[in-house]
Amino acid sequence: MSWILPSVILAVSTLCSGAILENVADLNALNLTFDFIVVGGGTAGNVVANRLSENPNHKILVLEAGGSNTGVLDIIVPSFCREATPNTAQDWNYTTTPQVGLNGRSIAHNRGFVLGGSSSVSKSFIVEHQYYMVYTRGSKEDFNRWAAVTEDDGWSWDNLLPYMTKNEIWSPPADNHNTAGKFDPAVHGFEGITAVSLSGFPTPIDSRIIAATSELEGYPFNLDMNSGNPIGVGWGQLTVKDGERSSSATSYLASQFLGRPNLYVLLNARVTRVLETSGAVRTVEFVQDLNGEPLTLTATKEVILSAGSIGTPNILLHSGIGNSSTLTTLGIQPVHNLPSVGQNLSDHTLLFLSFLVNSTNTFETAVHNATLAAEEFAQWNTSRTGPLVDNPLSHIGWLRVPNNSPVFEQFGDPSAGPNTPHFELIIANGMIPPPPPEGNFLSVVPVVVSPASRGSVTLNTNDLLADPLINPNHLGSEVDVFIMREAVKSAVRFTTAPAWDDYVLSAVGLNATTDAEIDAFVRANAATIYHPVGTASMSPRSAAWGVVDPDLRVKGLTGLRVVDLSVVPFIPAAHTQAAAYIIGERASDLIKESWN
Ligand SMILES: *[C@@H]1O[C@H](CO)[C@@H](O)[C@H](O)[C@H]1NC(C)=O
Ligand SMILES: *[C@@H]1O[C@H](CO)[C@@H](O)[C@H](O)[C@H]1NC(C)=O
Ligand SMILES: *[C@@H]1O[C@H](CO)[C@@H](O)[C@H](O)[C@H]1NC(C)=O
Ligand SMILES: *[C@@H]1O[C@H](CO)[C@@H](O)[C@H](O)[C@H]1NC(C)=O
Ligand SMILES: *[C@@H]1O[C@H](CO)[C@@H](O)[C@H](O)[C@H]1NC(C)=O
Ligand SMILES: *[C@@H]1O[C@H](CO)[C@@H](O)[C@H](O)[C@H]1NC(C)=O
Ligand SMILES: *[C@@H]1O[C@H](CO)[C@@H](O)[C@H](O)[C@H]1NC(C)=O
Ligand SMILES: *[C@@H]1O[C@H](CO)[C@@H](O)[C@H](O)[C@H]1NC(C)=O
Repeated sequence: MSWILPSVILAVSTLCSGAILENVADLNALNLTFDFIVVGGGTAGNVVANRLSENPNHKILVLEAGGSNTGVLDIIVPSFCREATPNTAQDWNYTTTPQVGLNGRSIAHNRGFVLGGSSSVSKSFIVEHQYYMVYTRGSKEDFNRWAAVTEDDGWSWDNLLPYMTKNEIWSPPADNHNTAGKFDPAVHGFEGITAVSLSGFPTPIDSRIIAATSELEGYPFNLDMNSGNPIGVGWGQLTVKDGERSSSATSYLASQFLGRPNLYVLLNARVTRVLETSGAVRTVEFVQDLNGEPLTLTATKEVILSAGSIGTPNILLHSGIGNSSTLTTLGIQPVHNLPSVGQNLSDHTLLFLSFLVNSTNTFETAVHNATLAAEEFAQWNTSRTGPLVDNPLSHIGWLRVPNNSPVFEQFGDPSAGPNTPHFELIIANGMIPPPPPEGNFLSVVPVVVSPASRGSVTLNTNDLLADPLINPNHLGSEVDVFIMREAVKSAVRFTTAPAWDDYVLSAVGLNATTDAEIDAFVRANAATIYHPVGTASMSPRSAAWGVVDPDLRVKGLTGLRVVDLSVVPFIPAAHTQAAAYIIGERASDLIKESWN
């Protein structure tokens, strides 16, 4: 079955409104000059486009490599985030290099290839930041570490809090249930743009999870994981509004914003390079037809690279901005020596861990019963209610290994501080990957959220359209292997709470009694939660490393900024969607200050 409906192309009016265009000829016919060109209509890019176009004197163009998000049901229906397979029309279809820490396996590294970028993408469609629509900011310490390492206090938690609330419009859940005791209104924004809510359909394990938090030591209930102090187990928060995914395309590019006469989006425009003209890097080179001639457009003020942690370094390197000696070897003319471009890639390693359960009321039941699945869809389609209004993550735990763990003596503690988690447990009422033909399951999925491992995004050819080499270096450091091992033990221990008596039967596939056996299971099965960051990192203005200054301008160049998760110097202990929005909001103010 094809879920792709014909995309809607908004009417173009040269007089009174901006538009989403599909063909550069339509753009050229308008004969416009753009002040800002945003490369990538993803999570952060659409924030910048929205905020800069608040000034009617500034004309903004977004170039998006993928197509329209309109009418793509896998993107709209929240719970379909589990159903899409990789290599769809909305996916960049990347895979990693062979991962030493994963027994040499190459794994999928999906990214959104659609307006909204990874904010529009569901599970296998990518997910730079909006994978499962999970909205978690991280700890105060995560952001305070950014401020310390960049020597810019503007990146501290306290100074970013106004941008967090500016991004967020807290919204009622789809079933309008009473949410008292499930979140703390004091830490949220109610007048922003991206909808954030609690799950809108109860699951039969909700009460068991909450009971387990008081039955066991070490899993305290946390009223609100977005308070800056995430440690504990709490209710998941997700970017869903009225039963539909809220992505940067549906929120920051909603019709009231696209109605502005100074905001344009060109789809199917894959940027290949940024080029210097008159001493500034304000020209973008792109293709619409992969076999066609390169096209160029020049901004009068700035080019904003928001192509994500893979796309941004890929474009910079092809533009000759990177390690000059490596670029020369590849036959790329060096333009500006910035050896940190593409280095320091960080990602979160995950292990899909499931438990066979004594129940028939899990996701699997609808997966195995087409009639039930059709009923659930019909309910969603007529009333935007029912089981499809949610992502599968009803609850999340954010936990630490002991501060005195011996591995830290040798390698240090990679977390941002004592109130920052080392690992996450994602709890779901079923198996998150496609389940086997029989059985019902519980997921308690461990994720290493403060990893020490760093990898890279590099090129192996000067072919502008080739995929880059993506090496997240999963489990490349001893400390990450240790944390994942302890996280697996913690996940298993969580299922021993009395609340799970007569319910949890056995762990799927995990038959390990020794640390070495756990490690072997992890290396054979771990994957990614698709949170790449760090490949065009911020650093202090005078630093000998890094790619951008704390105001996100590319070091040593004029006219070019980076606004996406590639600027993150240390990965936050969080799903990275919220950070992408926060960066987009602060960056918009930094850019406005330069041009007011
Ligand atoms: C395009 O706009 C410029 C001014 O911005 C004007 O000089 C030129 O005549 C216009 N071209 C067409 C074909 O309208
Ligand atoms: C990913 O694969 C799908 C299916 O083959 C294809 O439609 C899509 O265009 C591919 N994405 C890119 C960026 O090439
Ligand atoms: C640049 O890359 C070369 C390998 O091509 C490497 O030897 C060198 O250390 C790199 N330079 C920096 C400053 O990282
Ligand atoms: C990687 O990041 C660290 C800070 O976390 C920095 O000290 C180091 O210089 C960076 N390496 C490169 C190649 O940019
Ligand atoms: C499948 O679901 C339908 C609709 O809920 C239900 O009537 C039917 O009994 C289910 N079939 C099985 C085999 O459970
Ligand atoms: C959803 O409902 C609309 C009518 O509101 C209908 O046209 C459409 O076919 C339904 N979609 C599916 C996939 O059943
Ligand atoms: C399954 O649950 C029922 C109660 O719902 C209980 O009677 C039965 O013992 C459980 N089975 C197992 C194997 O735990
Ligand atoms: C679990 O491992 C033990 C010892 O390695 C082995 O004897 C047993 O058969 C295994 N059980 C399963 C279900 O694989």
